[in-house]
Amino acid sequence: MSILITNIKELLQVRDTNVTIVKGKNMRTLPTLKNAYVLIEHDTIVEFGKMTDLHDQEADEIIDATGKMVLPTWCDSHTHIVYAGDRTQEFVDRINGLSYEDIANRGGGILNSAETLQNTSEDDLYDQASKRLTDVIKLGTGAIEIKSGYGLNVNAELKMLRVIKRLKKDFPIKVKPTLLAAHAIPKDYKNNKSAFIDLVVNELIPAVAKEDLAEYIDVFCEKGYFDLEDTNRVLKAGIAHRMTPKIHVNQFNAFGGVALAVKHNALSVDHLEELKQEDITALKNSETMPVALPACSYFLSIPYTPGRELIDAGLPLALASDYNPGSTPTGNMNFVVSAACIKMKLTPEEAINAATINGAYAMGISNQYGSVCRGKKANLIITKEIDSYYQLPYAFGDNLIDTVIINGQKF
Ligand code: NIG
Ligand code: FE
Repeated sequence: MSILITNIKELLQVRDTNVTIVKGKNMRTLPTLKNAYVLIEHDTIVEFGKMTDLHDQEADEIIDATGKMVLPTWCDSHTHIVYAGDRTQEFVDRINGLSYEDIANRGGGILNSAETLQNTSEDDLYDQASKRLTDVIKLGTGAIEIKSGYGLNVNAELKMLRVIKRLKKDFPIKVKPTLLAAHAIPKDYKNNKSAFIDLVVNELIPAVAKEDLAEYIDVFCEKGYFDLEDTNRVLKAGIAHRMTPKIHVNQFNAFGGVALAVKHNALSVDHLEELKQEDITALKNSETMPVALPACSYFLSIPYTPGRELIDAGLPLALASDYNPGSTPTGNMNFVVSAACIKMKLTPEEAINAATINGAYAMGISNQYGSVCRGKKANLIITKEIDSYYQLPYAFGDNLIDTVIINGQKF
């Protein structure tokens, strides 16, 4: 099966060499080709170029993209899309004056989602998550990381991870599973957090490793959740079971979690709404990707990650959705890219780099995803007819996507 996309008004994120990360000033450059074509064979991009250089190319299907843009699908490196029910009541409670912290302190928040999830069957959980996954693919997501973390006990965590494994098998997009081993302190361990960490280290992590259900290990490193010592114990146990750290850090407080993550060679540090100079220093000379989640900041009305500062310091930056029931009930990466431009003052070029190549890097897949490059996976967005790619972040409430191609097939 081959597809030839012709007359593309502008082909975005074209790379002649297999770039796997873009940092600092380089993020301002988004290479494009005007009046272009792309040739896909099976699931792979085999050729692209100017229409003027296209002669008598045959293909099973020709898509005429006159007036349209083509770009790589979004790489969403941070989601919690496997969850049960929703938290609409807490949403209204926040409108009426309670804070995210107030809600957590009275036993709501993550504990609320955990209780619902524990009482939901694996099949029901799978059905709920697959609907969300279908919806985000239609919105242009072509690779996704999915976390556990609403189980809060061994069986429920295994249930979540088995659902992620089924999604990975049943859907054409790339799915990367993460064990979010320490997300909140369960009710039964309220006054005995260290016993919960013992459970995570001695039972949960080995059980997950035994079934080979997770590539990454995550912790919510935050005041009132897990401190540096807890985080250190969990990361070390995960690493001992061949999982790579990828952690929630600096969402509400900055107290050294970034340096700890870097010390453990974390693939990414995510949130960073609160950032200190020492965090930036720690990230320099590291291989760790900082990940901003602006849709979370929008929904909770908390500060936005100082993405400008990170990029201006010469660092890379990735954007992800954080799709979850409590802080970000959307996985729309188009909105994420837009919010990064509007609220974090990223240029459209920086935001698109952050949501494609760098997002792929934050999932360890940027050698195959995140750019239009010969030999990479044919995961592409074809937009509706638009004047310029600036329209993507500018028209923040519109769906400008016409077609999504995953592994060389229309989704
Ligand atoms: O990334 N901060 C921790 N975890 C999620 C939110 C969890 C929830 O409220 O359900 C996040 O924002
Ligand atoms: Fe998250």
